[in-house]
Amino acid sequence: MRILALPGDGVGVEVTEAALRVLDWFRTRRGFACEVLRRDFGLANWTKHGTMMPDETWARILEADAILFGAVGSLDQAGVVPPEERRKGSLLRMRKALDLFANLRPVRMPAALAEASPCKPRVTEGVDLILVRELTAGVYFGTPRGVETLPDGTRRGVNTHSYTEAEIARAARFAFALARGRRGRVTSVDKANVMEAGALWREVVGRIGAEEFPDVVLEHMLADNCAIQLLRAPRRFDVILTDNLFGDLLSDAAGAIIGSLGMLPSASLSAPDAAGRRRALYEPIHGSAPDIAGRGVANPLGAILSLALLLRWSAGRAEDAAHLEAAVDRALAAGARTSDIAAPGESVLSTEQMTQAVLDAL
Ligand code: IPM
Ligand code: MG
Repeated sequence: MRILALPGDGVGVEVTEAALRVLDWFRTRRGFACEVLRRDFGLANWTKHGTMMPDETWARILEADAILFGAVGSLDQAGVVPPEERRKGSLLRMRKALDLFANLRPVRMPAALAEASPCKPRVTEGVDLILVRELTAGVYFGTPRGVETLPDGTRRGVNTHSYTEAEIARAARFAFALARGRRGRVTSVDKANVMEAGALWREVVGRIGAEEFPDVVLEHMLADNCAIQLLRAPRRFDVILTDNLFGDLLSDAAGAIIGSLGMLPSASLSAPDAAGRRRALYEPIHGSAPDIAGRGVANPLGAILSLALLLRWSAGRAEDAAHLEAAVDRALAAGARTSDIAAPGESVLSTEQMTQAVLDAL
């Protein structure tokens, strides 16, 4: 397997380092055969090479079996990178070029973190849901887009929310198939009451559910209602299927249940090729967190759990993935905490110490 590590900017560097240390454990202790290549990404590239995306890096991205991604910089503070260049090194370009339409964001509540959550333990106990966010269409990519000047000299910003039946259908099939291996329940989230594209979403998902997955229980939910249900009764959810923009918002809301975005991993997958292999990118869902970058205090668990997803989805090593997830739970149960998940008075570990706690638990 060719794994490409793209640490990127800010805390992406520290947490990817942590994930690679854990990956090494699986190489040496479990015989996981893989080749790991590391390349700069984001503002790091701009600073070093004067371009956001050297051709060689792009070639590696296109040929990798799996990408382990850290984080990209919050938009260039100094404003020195021209917009053209910025797009070349953007996460969105990678998602589109690799056709990573299925974005998986699992949210599991570790029992040990009940205190870190802003929700009451009786609400969060046992939460185990997975959000399937469509990642290559919708308002993120629809055209026309841009800012135009109107005849009266004022400007108008335009983005287009668009979904074809095929785009809806493949995301739906992915979610239904995933639910079959879990508790057999899909909640499809849209704004069918307001948007035509939402009504089409509901119709297509409903048809595929009835015709191809009659064994899976399907419910439809409006996106605003879903936001509140996530906080009131998160246990009712098994698989949540939604579009690109709602998925962005709802995954942050779902992450709030756990108490820190630093805990949450993600996988972005393409359709399988003829040999059954999917292109894949794994990343923690937290950003580059410039405020704490470089201090060695970031929570590495989102990145480490993203590695678990890599083991499961790209390496076919489901047992190793479960082993790693259980090790993270054991480290937390033993009291390992980075500052984002520590309760007042609890002692706090650095990124490196937390990584070591996971290695010890392994
Ligand atoms: C995410 C992020 C990205 C998104 C940003 C960094 C473009 O918020 O993956 O959730 O909006 O998709
Ligand atoms: Mg987001």
